[in-house]
Amino acid sequence: MQIDVVSIFPEYLAPLELSLIGKARQDGLLDLKVHDLREFTTDRHRTVDDTPYGGGAGMVMKAEPWAQALSSIAEAGHAGEKPVLIVPSPAGERFNQALAHELAEEEQLIFACGRYEGIDERVIEWAAEHFTVRPMSLGDYVLNGGEVAVLAMVEAIVRLLPGVVGNPESLVEESHADGLLEYPVYTKPSTWRDREVPPILLSGNHGKIAQWRRHEQYRRTAARRPDLLDGFDATKLTRADRTEFSDLGYDVVDGRLHRRPDMPVNDQG
Ligand code: ADE
Repeated sequence: MQIDVVSIFPEYLAPLELSLIGKARQDGLLDLKVHDLREFTTDRHRTVDDTPYGGGAGMVMKAEPWAQALSSIAEAGHAGEKPVLIVPSPAGERFNQALAHELAEEEQLIFACGRYEGIDERVIEWAAEHFTVRPMSLGDYVLNGGEVAVLAMVEAIVRLLPGVVGNPESLVEESHADGLLEYPVYTKPSTWRDREVPPILLSGNHGKIAQWRRHEQYRRTAARRPDLLDGFDATKLTRADRTEFSDLGYDVVDGRLHRRPDMPVNDQG
């Protein structure tokens, strides 16, 4: 995969040289380049921003340096395809695990890190002719710029590329892999400060352990992220799974979970 990041703070992206992503780059699984937007300015002061038309606080990123940077990256990239241009923004589509999987299939991703009040909107319109533009938000809060969002998105995407995570099994049983939160995990010693590991985990009964873990996922998800259960496919639940959901206040109707209105809120997650 090829990833290009454009920013006025290229140093902000230095962590992409470390750990798993750094290794993926060394191993040739990922070709990642960080570009300084100011390299694409033509004035002596290397200006990238100006005051907003219509007035108001803050500054807006000028269109031309962005067009120059993005054209240069597109020309150097794979001809014939419309590369995906991700524009991190709190006004974007919410990034999640499903999108990480979708983006991990792309040949090339370009990330445009805005700062200040954002990028002149005409860049986004112009870019749509040459790129598949995806404004994307990390969550409902405001960061100072796109760089931190890019660090998070690139990590979520790159770890899904074949060969990047040593044991692919670890991608299967993690939070959001199956639309649920992950079950709790424990390691030695079995008693720590008078706290015992749940005995089922020491039983050697793999069927029972799998069921216990699944039910812990249901409990946690119901307590912490009940919104995730709205889209949950309940058609393949066992009788024991249904009983667990019933105890949590959910009935299965037409293959979907429905919360019984009389249930107190579950805060045992
Ligand atoms: N830039 C500023 N805030 C952001 C957010 N929440 N997500 C993505 N990019 C951002």
